[in-house]
Amino acid sequence: MRGETMPKVVVVGSGSVGTTLAYTLQITGVATEIVLIDSNRELAEGQVMDMNHGLPFVPPVHIYAGDYPDCKEADVIVITAGARQKPGETRLELVDRNAQICKSIVASIMPHVSEALLLVVTNPVHIMTYAVVKHSGLPPHRVIGSGTVLDSARFRYLLSQHCSIDTHNVHAYVIGEHGDSEVLLWSQVRMAGTSLELFCAHCAVGCAPLDKTKITEAVKNSAYHIIEAKGSTNYGVALAVTKIIESVIRDEHSVLTVSMMLSGEYGVSECCLSVPCIVDKKGVGRIVETELDQAEENDLKQSAQILKDVCKRVA
Ligand SMILES: NC(=O)c1ccc[n+]([C@@H]2O[C@H](COP(=O)([O-])OP(=O)(O)OC[C@H]3O[C@@H](n4cnc5c(N)ncnc54)[C@H](O)[C@@H]3O)[C@@H](O)[C@H]2O)c1
Repeated sequence: MRGETMPKVVVVGSGSVGTTLAYTLQITGVATEIVLIDSNRELAEGQVMDMNHGLPFVPPVHIYAGDYPDCKEADVIVITAGARQKPGETRLELVDRNAQICKSIVASIMPHVSEALLLVVTNPVHIMTYAVVKHSGLPPHRVIGSGTVLDSARFRYLLSQHCSIDTHNVHAYVIGEHGDSEVLLWSQVRMAGTSLELFCAHCAVGCAPLDKTKITEAVKNSAYHIIEAKGSTNYGVALAVTKIIESVIRDEHSVLTVSMMLSGEYGVSECCLSVPCIVDKKGVGRIVETELDQAEENDLKQSAQILKDVCKRVA
């Protein structure tokens, strides 16, 4: 890994998610070298030209359209290529189309990978992460998926809105599938270090009681609403993925609900799933086994079973 001084990130897929990610990396200064790859080379070149016209206004960064040999010396290679959901379509319905794409990308990347971490964003993200683990042959801690990092952010945002508190002071995790069976860990929510119940009990605002079902549904259905309204989601996911990359490149040890191949943690194995993980320069440094209540434990098992059944199709 070239590390913190000259971080290099390759983004495969120059569509809505890949380009917004590259732009976010550009303006935050997280990477000093950004390569965009797409099967539509002209698209990648156009996106790069557009971003390069902003160079006088951001920290120094080298951005170019490339090909798989440019994965050499990358710190992180992000896979965002593939089909996206159409309005009303679930993420799991994308499996067969995107598994073929991810397998062919892995075959193109691997001859050029030395130290890089592979970060999967293409949906259904856990199944694609599983396929990339299997087809790359890399150790599981070096292949992670963006998982439910975005869903956890949506959960934190909605709690912060209800309670009029900075999102940074809300700790809340969504685990399991990035999709319909995801599990919001209500039992673990911490507002300014206290439980939600205590925080609300001492609040003098006198607002309507917090409706857990409404927030749970809003988190789960966010992507459906955004896709219905504008065709795709790109900003939130780009910022979530930038945070993951930053934690790897800067060895931040941030706790993020990335997707990772589990080997018995939370009673799950042979399946990629999101649980709180400490993300550092190695990828996942440690899986945090947090306490779940009985309902959360049952829901997580159910979510894992749904994903395990689909994983078998892409192994
Ligand atoms: N994990 C998350 O939180 C999350 C959030 C949003 C979107 N996504 C997923 O990200 C993926 C991309 O979404 P998008 O909105 O950017 O789609 P998009 O259609 O805008 O872009 C996809 C790009 O992939 C390229 N591509 C297709 N096959 C390729 C291949 N074999 N090699 C290289 N490039 C190839 C296409 O040319 C296109 O430019 C989708 O699967 C979507 O569901 C994931």
